[in-house]
This record gives sequence, structure tokens and C-alpha cells, in this order.
Amino acid sequence: MDSYVHGYQEREAERLGDQANTLSGLLHHDTRYPAGSKVLEAGCGVGAQTIILARNSPGASITSVDISPDSLGKARAAVESEGIANVTFRLANIFNLPFANESFDHVFLCFVLEHLRELERALQELRRVLKSGGSITVITDRPISTQRAWRRGRPSSASSSSRSAREGIR
Ligand SMILES: C[S@@+](CC[C@H](N)C(=O)[O-])C[C@H]1O[C@@H](n2cnc3c(N)ncnc32)[C@H](O)[C@@H]1O
Repeated sequence: MDSYVHGYQEREAERLGDQANTLSGLLHHDTRYPAGSKVLEAGCGVGAQTIILARNSPGASITSVDISPDSLGKARAAVESEGIANVTFRLANIFNLPFANESFDHVFLCFVLEHLRELERALQELRRVLKSGGSITVITDRPISTQRAWRRGRPSSASSSSRSAREGIR
């Protein structure tokens, strides 16, 4: 993200927390990762979704990354204050992830891809670190053509879909 549209102010941290809690049932009701699985949460922000993810999948090992050190610090503090122990945080850029190929069983992104200029490049990098047969869950606040970019590996045009803001793509 060249400049994150919502910025990194305190008010934004509050907004992300309110958003995560308000939409928790809708966004997370069917996201449960098996014990022992490795999950990458890309663009974790202040950890609002991380807490819900980690609580819902206590046996999974979650690695949450963000490009903002400040947000990561807040996320780490939030997770610690909740007594959650299955999350590791790492400063990382989605476009250049510090992980070997096929490191994760699952990838989860919430309200991130719609802010990136190079969607296809981001998906290629996420795909690199995802094991064959793994899953990627993408939640966006507007329709974007993730499926086309994922499958064909080339830039997508504007989405023709106006359906759900949640897409599970494989
Ligand atoms: C709208 S926030 C969403 C945060 C969190 N997923 C949530 O739903 O509460 C978008 C986050 O993506 C992060 N981000 C943007 N570009 C990124 C990149 N290239 N690599 C890693 N994180 C990025 C931002 O720093 C920000 O924390």
C-alpha cells in the first residue's frame, strides 16, 4: 500500500476494532482452522480480526503480518492482553513475504486487498507461500476480481460482480 487510505491514527484503530466486533458473526462464522495448521493473516492491522481468528481456531498456529510497525505493536499488545498464545507477529510486506514457498496451510486477509494497487502481484506472492491445496480467504469491503487474478495470474479488470463482500478463492 503506497499510502493507506484510512491512515494509522488512533481513531482508525478504534474503527477497525468496532468493525471487527460488529461484523464478527458475519465474517468469521465459517472460518475455523484445524489444530496444527499454519495460517498466515496478511495485513493484520491493529489485530482486531486476529483476536477473533485466534479464539476461533485455538489449535492453529497463526502468523500475522503487517507493513506498519505501529499497528503491529498495537496488535501484539491487544493479543497479549487477551491472553492469546497462538499468534506470532512479524513486520512484513505482502509483496515480499519473508517466508519459504508453501509455508502455510491457509491464508486469511480482511479489508486489505482492496487497498493495494497491484492486486495480481499481491496474490502471486500470497500464492507462493500457500501450500498446494491450501485455502485463501479474502474479505473485502467492495467487490474486486480476486478470482480472475488468482486463476489467470494477470491483472484483472473491474469486477462485474456486486455480490457478497466475502470471497473464498482456491
Ligand atoms: C483496513 S486495514 C485492515 C486491518 C485488519 N485486517 C482488520 O480488518 O482489522 C489494512 C491493513 O493492511 C496493511 N497493509 C497495507 N499494505 C500492506 C502491505 N503491502 N503489506 C502488509 N500489510 C499491508 C495496513 O498497514 C493496514 O494495517
